[in-house]
Amino acid sequence: MFLSSRVKLANESVTLKTNQQVIKLADEGMHVYNMTAGQLPFKPIKEFIECVSKQTNFLKSYQYAPVAGFPELREKVISYTEKTRGIDFSYSEEEFDAVISNGAKHTVYNVLGTLIDPGDEVILIAPYWVSYPEMVQFWGGTTQVVKSHSFDGFIPDIEDIKKSISSKTKAIIINSPNNPTGVNYSQAWMKQFGEFLLEHPDIVVISDEIYHEICYYDPKPEFFYKFYPELLARTIIVDGISKSLSCTGLRIGWCVAPKKLTNALTKIQGQTTSGANSLIQRALIDFDFSSFKHFLSPVKEHLRRNADYLREKFSAHGLSKCWYQSTSAFYFVVDFKRTPYFEKNYADTEEDKSEEISSKLLNQHGVALVPGSDFGAPNTARMSIVLEEAPFNEAIERLSLFLGN
Ligand SMILES: Cc1ncc(COP(=O)(O)O)c(C=O)c1O
Repeated sequence: MFLSSRVKLANESVTLKTNQQVIKLADEGMHVYNMTAGQLPFKPIKEFIECVSKQTNFLKSYQYAPVAGFPELREKVISYTEKTRGIDFSYSEEEFDAVISNGAKHTVYNVLGTLIDPGDEVILIAPYWVSYPEMVQFWGGTTQVVKSHSFDGFIPDIEDIKKSISSKTKAIIINSPNNPTGVNYSQAWMKQFGEFLLEHPDIVVISDEIYHEICYYDPKPEFFYKFYPELLARTIIVDGISKSLSCTGLRIGWCVAPKKLTNALTKIQGQTTSGANSLIQRALIDFDFSSFKHFLSPVKEHLRRNADYLREKFSAHGLSKCWYQSTSAFYFVVDFKRTPYFEKNYADTEEDKSEEISSKLLNQHGVALVPGSDFGAPNTARMSIVLEEAPFNEAIERLSLFLGN
């Protein structure tokens, strides 16, 4: 059997490889602290479970949904976006719509399909979510990567973004709050980014806002289009329920975007996956979206507690320089290069040791992290801080002893 060149070019995910190793070690009896998770260890809010339960009684919940999603849910998603981002779509001359898909990942993939021709370039900010470069490549595009660093709080420099533009640039993906860094870009940055976009009228922005509800320290996330609403005409806002409702397995995500784009996206979806899960869409129509806040309040408290513990432990072990205080999403990035462990063992190396160090941490100390080689940041690793308090503290203790002094 001959496989397509497209699939041959796709990289195997180091995250998935790490997860397989976690399962293997756990099966062999090792106690593993799995800090790779991008999901909360809690069930969703009971009011939502009741909405799902009620909808199980209706035939329509088991039948095909409209390709773009139920109109009531699309309207609800649009007004939720307006309310939570402080914007008003009627301000623009454009018409807007929403498309419901099988998760935000599916949404980003389809959106890229509506935009990318072979050879087009998409700007990514590193560290980036592991799936972006692979998806761009699947559609025949190439990526231009702009780096951000722990010593700058992982805030990309707009001048670096400007330098990455070429005549082939089609789009830029921004992800604030960010996976894997756990930061969100400041209001000042968003204004500057908006000004930059006004100077470059052909660039489309995919704003992946899947973590916008998950912010456990002020200031709250802000978005460039609030300051320059005319930019909504070339912005695709991506969101979903995986993170804010703790429903990663129910696979509902969406985008809100100009109708020209949502119509094209509906065409792709109609010929591939069809409409997303009817049962969950209908439950969401009944569900009060303002309950996200109520559900997330104890979750944020939990993340704050874990983040505080991490800060204390790391500073007690001479590890203050190897991370940046995150405020949002589920993650921290550990910069191995700025740890006593790296200085002792790899002082003269320029190579990326993120896989090697992460593998030692897992096999010798039972702590699983995602190596930075997967998200464009050599010699770093992503740590998820969602674990319950006791195992989280144990894992941080082990990590501090290994990396620190
Ligand atoms: C930045 C980012 N975007 C999108 C997604 C995908 O979300 P979903 O579960 O809705 O597909 C994730 C999931 O980890 C993510 O981290």
